[in-house]
Amino acid sequence: MSVGIDEISFYTSNYFLDLRTLAEVQGTDPEKYYQGIGQIKMGMAAPDEDVVTMAANAALPLIERVGGDAISTLMFATETGIDQSKAAGVYVHRLLGLTSNCRVVEMKQACYSATAAIQMACALVARQPEKKVLVIASDIARYELDTPGEATQGCGAVAMLISANPRIVEIAPEVGNYTEDVMDFWRPNYRSTALVDGKYSTKIYLRSLKQAWENFRQVSAASFEDFGHFCYHLPFSKMAQKAHQQLARINKAGLSAEQLEEQILDSLYYNKIIGNSYTASMYIGLTSLLENCRQNLAGSKIGFFSYGSGCVAEFFSGTVMEGYQQYLHTERHSKMLEARSEVSYDEYLALYKHPDPRDGERCDIPHVTTGRYRLVSIVDHKREYIAL
Ligand code: CAA
Repeated sequence: MSVGIDEISFYTSNYFLDLRTLAEVQGTDPEKYYQGIGQIKMGMAAPDEDVVTMAANAALPLIERVGGDAISTLMFATETGIDQSKAAGVYVHRLLGLTSNCRVVEMKQACYSATAAIQMACALVARQPEKKVLVIASDIARYELDTPGEATQGCGAVAMLISANPRIVEIAPEVGNYTEDVMDFWRPNYRSTALVDGKYSTKIYLRSLKQAWENFRQVSAASFEDFGHFCYHLPFSKMAQKAHQQLARINKAGLSAEQLEEQILDSLYYNKIIGNSYTASMYIGLTSLLENCRQNLAGSKIGFFSYGSGCVAEFFSGTVMEGYQQYLHTERHSKMLEARSEVSYDEYLALYKHPDPRDGERCDIPHVTTGRYRLVSIVDHKREYIAL
């Protein structure tokens, strides 16, 4: 049976910092960011936005089209957890008006967990083909100020409907996995920003790619040449370029540098101007490929490399379906990105440092977001969300 992504939509905040502004304040050459890491802008969440509001915004267009009744399970992937116990998806379930018979669960393994959610969703649908599973990945990437990671912040959420006979991408059952207990990037419960051993993390990423690919080759007949395009986890877009060059080297691919670049270029556009969105980033990359590639991708095979620090990695594949273009949300996404406002460095700092109360005292949050959902207050340690 064919199972995969039936519809896909993403959301990012209305605010961004141009990395030139950051570079000027730091006295760094902006080309280090524009060319060196391949990033132009980074999205900054408004004070009344978090992973819940971003997730609901990302999923709303899907619910408006297919209705909530068909959704049997909502899987919420994030590494920006807002609660140690309650799944963030339960708030989203209410905001989207899903049925009370829909199960909700939150999943975590750094940037990888949306892929685990998709594989599990495919298994659920294979068992009950009349059901649809809503997978949402939502994250706010935060590093300490004045660290090498600062320029790789960002925020975003992506919502994907997993169903039988999907209209966008069919996902193949063969996967290659790699897991290793390493400390390349992590965030202990008591910290709001990630700790990272930056250079080491890029080495582990590339090592995991090699290992996951080799494992994939043991179970799949597909070879490097069978893939027209590739989507990589995107902490910053240059990482995908390094990864793709490595994969081509491993496979002794006889492609020119330009041909290799063409296989990933369209997947990078959105991430370059949104920044890292952890669990969501590879799937925003997929959206970018589908919506920006001029060529008709129907029938084309896509290779996916999902990486979550710590680390768990997976290589898998998908085939683009005939007529996929008519189910995309291209216009909505481009309007959302065009409507964003640039912030100054001081405004960026204010967004970065907005109050994050932990003592249970009443905190009313000003209305800043331009999205359809917002976090209104935190009272008695309870977060209150509304639809606008
Ligand atoms: N013009 C053009 N290029 C320039 C330049 C200039 N003026 N100045 C520097 N560069 C280039 C450098 O040559 C380098 O390119 P190469 O890697 O191809 O050599 C690039 O810009 C970056 O420069 P540095 O290596 O000096 O950068 P850095 O050490 O300050 O920071 C980083 C790089 C360590 C990756 C940092 O961005 C970081 O810590 N990021 C967060 C961690 C991360 O994203 N890791 C990725 C793997 S882990 C993962 O994927 C999970 C996740 O989501 C976090």
